Amino acid sequence: MFPKSNMPAYAWLAERKLDTTYTERKMKTLGFPYKTEEIKALESKTELDVLVAYLQKLGRDLKEIEKGSVVKVAEAAVPEKNPFEGNADAIKEGKKIFETNCAVCHGKDAKGGIGPNLLRKDFKYGRSDSDLYTSISKGRPGGMPDWEPKIGRDRIWKVIAYLRTIQEK
Ligand code: HEC
Repeated sequence: MFPKSNMPAYAWLAERKLDTTYTERKMKTLGFPYKTEEIKALESKTELDVLVAYLQKLGRDLKEIEKGSVVKVAEAAVPEKNPFEGNADAIKEGKKIFETNCAVCHGKDAKGGIGPNLLRKDFKYGRSDSDLYTSISKGRPGGMPDWEPKIGRDRIWKVIAYLRTIQEK
């Protein structure tokens, strides 16, 4: 604590030992690469030690974000399967999103216009959930805009959920 500062003293943080009972489970859930031995090594640490370590990590993370590497982690986390598949509310919303944003080029019924027919079986860039997600989110060179910055992830998945209900099986 600095003199004259009104920051309270947290003396007990320096005395309390870290409780690692749930650490391993938390690391697994979050997908962090900590090994059991590394977690064991934390048992001698106090809560103050780990608080300082956390603050230092925040500082390093900020530099990583500036370099753009954290964004890549977020991209890798796009699910393989559509989280809204078969969800009636999402499909209804997806239809509206399609009519507002996509129909100008792909036609009101998605059968094509400036952009290709989206009901057909053979897609140039593939027709799996993740292929469609990539086509729509990032765009394609022949004139397909990138939609992720404009409508975000959830709406893209909802449009896909809608398209699935009208596509050829
Ligand atoms: C400005 C016109 C335009 C708009 C708006 C547009 N698209 Fe496209 N889209 C295209 C064109 C052109 C292509 C073909 C790109 C290519 O072949 O490289 C395409 C390609 C695609 C593909 C890939 C098709 C394949 O054969 O692999 C999908 C999927 C798609 N669009 C979905 C959408 C959805 C969903 C929306 C609305 C969120 C949308 N598009 C809005 C013009 C558009």
